[in-house]
Amino acid sequence: MSTLLSKENFLKMSEFIYRKSGIFLDYDKHFDKLSKYVDRRANELEVEDFRKYFFILRFEDKNGEEFQELMNAVTVNETYFFREKEQFEVLANKILPELHKTLPASKPIRILSSPCSTGEEPYSMILHIVEEANVVEERDIEVVGIDIDSTVIEKAKKAKYTDRSVHAIPKNILAKWFKKKNLGYELIEDLHGSVDLKVANIFDKEEMRKLGKFDVIFSRNMLIYFDDASRKEVAMTFYDMLNPGGYVLLGHAEYMSRIVSVFKAKKIDGTLIYQK
Ligand SMILES: C[S@@+](CC[C@H](N)C(=O)[O-])C[C@H]1O[C@@H](n2cnc3c(N)ncnc32)[C@H](O)[C@@H]1O
Repeated sequence: MSTLLSKENFLKMSEFIYRKSGIFLDYDKHFDKLSKYVDRRANELEVEDFRKYFFILRFEDKNGEEFQELMNAVTVNETYFFREKEQFEVLANKILPELHKTLPASKPIRILSSPCSTGEEPYSMILHIVEEANVVEERDIEVVGIDIDSTVIEKAKKAKYTDRSVHAIPKNILAKWFKKKNLGYELIEDLHGSVDLKVANIFDKEEMRKLGKFDVIFSRNMLIYFDDASRKEVAMTFYDMLNPGGYVLLGHAEYMSRIVSVFKAKKIDGTLIYQK
């Protein structure tokens, strides 16, 4: 079957995606997926050639819906509860008690999960906080989750998960905080709404500014999809979004020291964290 996307058009489109979202699509790896997407979308929009589709995407997409469709199709949303769980333990048992001691008593501690995908990461923070962090009774703690993909944010709000997604949660925690459903699990009502979930693009400076300042930022398994220039831009965005002394935690394959040198690297219980 013929497709609307040629190699030349793929390069135009991947350049556009990269510029807007930092996501780098490689021709050999991603051509088929993007080509199927463009054919489907062109069909739905009843346009006959790539040029018209690309025109709509760039110039007639006033409320950003076409861009949102595209982002929902090109992101990789793989995640699960308690992924790299040592980081949640360090958050609950070391970082929060330290921040509780140093921050003025009236200030909430603010934590950002960027990106949060379908919510497993910020809800894992909440579960560790309610189970392990002693400071939780004395201090307001706000957890915010953002992702560029609107479908994952909708799923995160529903808080319904597959067996695969909850496989790493210890049985007693699962039984306490989830309801077993016919298919999978749902977070109990009390924890619905415990994370403030929003669609946001990390490269959109205005959206990021509106989120306010944070004391801790988790950014795991997103920078791996970016190139060096985009990683640097995101790292500096995090720097600006952090309160003085605040922390960044990255995924296991991501190292701040290879991106920018403005953070101080520290190891707590073997977990690498970066301080402003
Ligand atoms: C693999 S998931 C990581 C989820 C979670 N942090 C974890 O480690 O399990 C990567 C997420 O990054 C999001 N993402 C990619 N580019 C983004 C951008 N420019 N702004 C915000 N989120 C983005 C994707 O939509 C996807 O859900």
